[in-house]
Amino acid sequence: MTVETVFNIEFSDRLKELPPYLFVEIDKAKRQARAEGRDIIDLGVGDPDTPTLPHIIQALQKSVTDPANHRYAFDAGLPLLRTEIAAWFKKRFGVELNPDTEIYPLIGSKEGLAHLPLGIINPKDKVILTDPAYPAYRASIAFAGGKIQNLPLKEGNGFLPDLKKLAEIKDAKAMWVNYPNNPTSATANLEFYKELVAIAKEKGIILVSDMAYSEIYFDGEKPPSILEVEGAKDIAIEFHSFSKTYNMTGWRIGWACGNPKLVAALAKVKSNFDSGIFQAIQVAGVTALRTKEEEIEDLRRMYQERRDLLINGLRGVGWKIPPPKAAFYVWARLPKGYTSSIETASRFLQEANVVVTPGIGFGEAGEGFIRMTITMPKDRLSEAIARLSKIL
Ligand SMILES: Cc1ncc(COP(=O)(O)O)c(C=O)c1O
Repeated sequence: MTVETVFNIEFSDRLKELPPYLFVEIDKAKRQARAEGRDIIDLGVGDPDTPTLPHIIQALQKSVTDPANHRYAFDAGLPLLRTEIAAWFKKRFGVELNPDTEIYPLIGSKEGLAHLPLGIINPKDKVILTDPAYPAYRASIAFAGGKIQNLPLKEGNGFLPDLKKLAEIKDAKAMWVNYPNNPTSATANLEFYKELVAIAKEKGIILVSDMAYSEIYFDGEKPPSILEVEGAKDIAIEFHSFSKTYNMTGWRIGWACGNPKLVAALAKVKSNFDSGIFQAIQVAGVTALRTKEEEIEDLRRMYQERRDLLINGLRGVGWKIPPPKAAFYVWARLPKGYTSSIETASRFLQEANVVVTPGIGFGEAGEGFIRMTITMPKDRLSEAIARLSKIL
């Protein structure tokens, strides 16, 4: 008899009400294929495949041996980390941030993004989400009881939300935006943010901007921060991450910045959930922020070469996909003859041993697309193209 049958453990309503996990079948098939010993090429997971930059690892090797770093960390992070983030932000975006009130380090940006709704959303508050979207937004807004209104991202509009439609929405408390975007890889320019901030200010909508991919951009086009817009700090909070810029996904470090009241709301929630980031990692984070730009440029070049290889290879077999301008995702309309994103993903896996992510998993507007990552060496991408070309 299992514990569950004795005590009849029931999940909370909030857990039961979470939208279904749409990757279940694909995940099961992937595990099964691996168990059968098949050589799977996984273009599903967006996690850098190259190691953390060596100088950051060396900084951690040193900081981890210092007993001063072994105790509970300050909730608000090391003052040095916050001032270094402020210096980085000023250099990258030309925006001044007060390190004491406008910056808050996080255990990865996902942690902060997921906790923020508990600090600003009441049950039944209307929250606008762009669709498709990074799935963690939907779940965390639902946990806070927020009611989500989707604003579709259409290819014809560069996967940006239609701001005329936004202006028509009544009584929204907050809106989440994410550029460079996961899963579409679209970018937003400053003109877009100016209009967005103007509408949000007029309607009293809090803006939550996720810039986890700020440094992964191509063709020299640097994505701007929403905080570059004059007055954006009155209503906006932005999330940043060390994960993708420095290959540090496993380390768990990021930050929130912007409006001091929004930052304070997040800090208050967090003070009841966690006790900060392991201080040795914060010290290494300071070193990461001082990384020479050429090293990040090398990473960007690597991803750009892979992007071009995948896009050109697939074009060669008749599948035309617009090249992404940023992030490390290729967001592709289904190839001819395929009718659903789940069916496409499962056929690619069964017939070519290639894993891709079905677009529907990112929201209804993601149907008709699949997402492929370029966090894979060139020889494996070439092999994936060769395999797909046989079935397309
Ligand atoms: C859009 C987006 N935001 C945030 C994150 C979370 O990044 P981290 O928690 O590693 O900073 C991810 C991770 O894939 C992402 O795709």
